[in-house]
Amino acid sequence: MRRTGGLLLTLAMVLVLTACGQSASSEKQEEIQAAVQTTEEQSETSQNGAAAGQETEEQLESEMETEPMEFVSTQKQEAEVDIKTLVVYFSCTGSTKNVASYITEILEADIYEIVPETPYTEEDLAYYTNGRADQEQNDPDVRPAISGSVENMDEYQTIILGYPIWHGQAPRIISTFLESYDFSGKTIIPFCTSHSSGLGSSASDLHALCPGSVKWLDGRRFEGGASRESVAEWIGEIGIE
Ligand SMILES: Cc1cc2nc3c(=O)[nH]c(=O)nc-3n(C[C@H](O)[C@H](O)[C@H](O)COP(=O)(O)O)c2cc1C
Repeated sequence: MRRTGGLLLTLAMVLVLTACGQSASSEKQEEIQAAVQTTEEQSETSQNGAAAGQETEEQLESEMETEPMEFVSTQKQEAEVDIKTLVVYFSCTGSTKNVASYITEILEADIYEIVPETPYTEEDLAYYTNGRADQEQNDPDVRPAISGSVENMDEYQTIILGYPIWHGQAPRIISTFLESYDFSGKTIIPFCTSHSSGLGSSASDLHALCPGSVKWLDGRRFEGGASRESVAEWIGEIGIE
């Protein structure tokens, strides 16, 4: 009986201990599960973080992709600026203005009129009368003042410069214009209108007024009532766009 009791006691202890052990191991399991869950969550977070990081990299890559495009577009803008053409003209009776307007239309260029501060009257323009225009042409140092100016001359690479022939030369106000800006590195293309004279030395005489880096193209003389076609033909010949 005593022995049976001892056995029973031992069995009871084993059962209790097993129960305790099971409880302990299930607690442990819960702990492990919780830890695994936490790790999984962390891993997810870190994966998300990595994804976020990837997004940032993608963004960076796309930004890097955008950057060269921006660079290209800046270059394009610069190229556009480089080829910008300004048609500049001086005209008292409308003939040179007429040609300048055709050029401007054909090239879709900008236009600037050289306006004298003191306008030329009919009397001033009556040549071989020793009037104002005659006197100015007799003195290469005269610089008639210009009213207004080209604000953004830097933007233009090519200047198409038109004037009437006055005694075989460009009017002195053209000298004023050329000495008013820095045309370094620009291209100047002269044209003139006249009663009958050709361009002559009227353009080459202007070269000395500009820096040596100016590229002067050959000019063209037009008659008073020059047609649009003749102007378009010339534009085609010099090959500017
Ligand atoms: C002072 C003066 C001098 C001129 N000298 C000449 C000349 O040497 N040769 C010529 O063919 N025409 C001469 N002309 C005529 C102009 O060159 C011509 O009428 C020109 O087309 C006028 O241009 P505009 O209407 O744009 O002012 C002269 C005109 C003026 C006012």
